[in-house]
Amino acid sequence: MKPRPICNGVQWMGVVDWNRRLFDALIPLPDGTSYNAYLVQGSDKTALLDTVEPAVMDVFMSRLAEIERIDYLVSHHVEQDHSGTIPTILEKYDQSVVVCSPRAAPMLVEHLGIAPERIKTVEDGETLSLGNKTLRFVHTPWVHWPETMVTHLPEARILFSCDLFGSHVATSNLLAGNDPYVLEAAKRYYAELMLPFRKMIQNHLKKIGALEFDLIAPSHGPPHDQPKGIVAAYEDWVSDRVSNLVVLPYISMHGSTEAMVNYLVEALAERGVKVQKFDLANTDIGKLAMALVDAATIVIGTPTVHVGPHPNVFYATHLANALRPKLRYAAIIGSYGWGTKAAEQIAGLIPNLKVEVLGTVLCKGLPAAEAFTALDALADTIRDKHASI
Ligand code: FEO
Repeated sequence: MKPRPICNGVQWMGVVDWNRRLFDALIPLPDGTSYNAYLVQGSDKTALLDTVEPAVMDVFMSRLAEIERIDYLVSHHVEQDHSGTIPTILEKYDQSVVVCSPRAAPMLVEHLGIAPERIKTVEDGETLSLGNKTLRFVHTPWVHWPETMVTHLPEARILFSCDLFGSHVATSNLLAGNDPYVLEAAKRYYAELMLPFRKMIQNHLKKIGALEFDLIAPSHGPPHDQPKGIVAAYEDWVSDRVSNLVVLPYISMHGSTEAMVNYLVEALAERGVKVQKFDLANTDIGKLAMALVDAATIVIGTPTVHVGPHPNVFYATHLANALRPKLRYAAIIGSYGWGTKAAEQIAGLIPNLKVEVLGTVLCKGLPAAEAFTALDALADTIRDKHASI
């Protein structure tokens, strides 16, 4: 496999992983992914920016076959899909030094056993000359680990952003262009990984906005050669704005909770409120996470199992709490057989969500007139709350 040139002195050295379907044993990858590394060759020195997932190391090493010297190996992020092949690179290029943020240095030692004397740390804003090219390091902690940073290459007007602005997409295209498919995948990626760090990214975007670049080269998915689109999308996603949208994850065992959910979906639609409904018996959690990026309200629908919520609802609620979306309102609905503590238990699962609870509608057995009246009242409340967002 050969390197793919991006511009004079900059080459893509990544690996496209077409068949991977799960990341971190958690995140669905419907479209595969890629692990992007980049080679920057200056007049005096050569730098490799990140490596790849060790499972696909052979392809990566074949791209490097004709590269005789690497002076610097920039590690933007210690997670193994980018750092896992660093030890192999250090072995092959025995003069090379790993360049990373001060927070990354001990992590590289702990996670990969890299010798401390092979590590050089760089401060925020520090530069490293490659001769006729300059690497400028910008610390961007918590996207999505504490040690993360990005690199600006001013001479080529490129921002190497690692996970930030990334997308889990396998494609033979070198560049993203304005492909809406990549933007959709980038939103999914943001939702799954970056959403809990929204406030920090707001500040990082200001910092990055001061840099001049025509290309954003992330570590997953094709580089953005029309970067204004992805930057504008991020500005929207991290903003405090919410949409007139209710996210409704639910599950139903015998149809009663589903009847309540369907009634509420109709009632909200009649009132001009958009709903995204997710049956947790077979939901792609990435789609659920994407809906949480913009939604103003979450309504959780659950039957009662052993007094508490259905285990799939526990899982989805825990996930929503961990992602810390910018939700403003919440409600719980569902049916139970003989007794329930589902609402109390769900409330205890969402301490991170700074939401106003708009109501709980629980009914015993099949929903009837009283439950439907309560659901109409809940729909009225949601419509009124959404009118002011
Ligand atoms: Fe792509 Fe956080 O690793």
